[in-house]
Amino acid sequence: MYPDRVVSGMRPTGAMHLGHYHGALKNWIKMQSELPCLFFVADWHALTTHYDDPGVIERSTWDMLVDWLAAGVDPSQATLFIQSRVPEHAELHLLLSMATPLGWLERVPTYKDQIDNLSNKDLATYGFLGYPLLQAADVLIYRASQVPVGDDQVPHIEMMREIARRFNHLYGKEQGFEAKAQDAVKKLGSKRAKLYNELRTDYQQCGKDAALEQAKAMLDDAQSLSMIDRERLFGYLEGSRKLILVEPQVRLTAASRLPGLDGRKMSKSYGNAIALREDRATVTKKVRTMPTDPARVRRSDPGDPAKCPVWQFHAVYSDAATKEWVAKGCSSAGIGCIECKQPVIDAIIKEQEPMHERAQQYLDDPTLVRAIVADGNDAARKLAQETMRDVREAMGLAYN
Ligand code: TRP
Ligand code: SF4
Repeated sequence: MYPDRVVSGMRPTGAMHLGHYHGALKNWIKMQSELPCLFFVADWHALTTHYDDPGVIERSTWDMLVDWLAAGVDPSQATLFIQSRVPEHAELHLLLSMATPLGWLERVPTYKDQIDNLSNKDLATYGFLGYPLLQAADVLIYRASQVPVGDDQVPHIEMMREIARRFNHLYGKEQGFEAKAQDAVKKLGSKRAKLYNELRTDYQQCGKDAALEQAKAMLDDAQSLSMIDRERLFGYLEGSRKLILVEPQVRLTAASRLPGLDGRKMSKSYGNAIALREDRATVTKKVRTMPTDPARVRRSDPGDPAKCPVWQFHAVYSDAATKEWVAKGCSSAGIGCIECKQPVIDAIIKEQEPMHERAQQYLDDPTLVRAIVADGNDAARKLAQETMRDVREAMGLAYN
């Protein structure tokens, strides 16, 4: 089978805030040490909604990349790149579009939602309808096994699984597949070839799942097989199709969600965000002026943490003892709100210290980020080109 691989992207929205960090980046940083990861700036995706104002995208792209690095995304572990620098994404998007039913795109829930939300923009465009298909190309082109995203993106991942399945179904039939598969069986050596054929028959004629598993394990062990022959033999076990694109799994971001200062979703446009690299004084001021439970007008009024956005910050930042101190102190008016906020301020400042440090070298020398991304673009492009070679061949486009 194809190797495990993680792919995820973000639209360039400029400087990141703590909502992005807790909602997505922390998860990326965890995954980068576990599996090969590709993280990219989805600049073409930004154009689907900002086609009339593309000037902001460049600046936002670099700002976002500095923040990824500041947060701890490590270019020696993960591949960082920019979508538009790997034009193969566009080629796959085009080829996938040929067989994608319009209904699949119109049904994606974010489509109607976004059109309603961004009613000041004309989003009745071809590009905007195709957003989830471009996203499918972003992931399928790397044959990713896992995609870390928030739950709003789950329908997109489900659709890309359907796209991959449909593609394999339509084009997975290689010319002369049967003969090529039988050649590959011979390359296993006579003992293994015999076992392979027996297990294949057991599975196909008697539906024995254990035989399928055993055959797959044997193929995993067969060192001498080329990648493509291994794929053929996997496909041949179950039928006569070759897996060209891989159906990815969703990897949901762990639910540490940090709301904005006012309790709504954290967003720069709501003015309720703390920037990833906000300076100390501003962090302190922003948290000190956060709204609290409206019932606590005076210091002597008891409060209810459940009605207070500061409590949600404690949920992310504080240990059990601190949380208990808050819960008791708030409901008994034993502590004041300024007092209650101090541990949150301290925790945010502590969390941000290494981010400021890591960012400094990139601010001092902007060519560093350019170099990291140039390397990432090259590495991503190589992988994308491998897949596209197979895709073109499968679709009968490999003539020259
Ligand atoms: N649609 C994603 C978002 O709005 C961004 C994105 C584009 C993405 N391509 C992707 C995420 C591929 C994961 C994989 O957040
Ligand atoms: Fe909110 Fe803390 Fe004030 Fe209670 S004491 S209202 S939890 S800030």
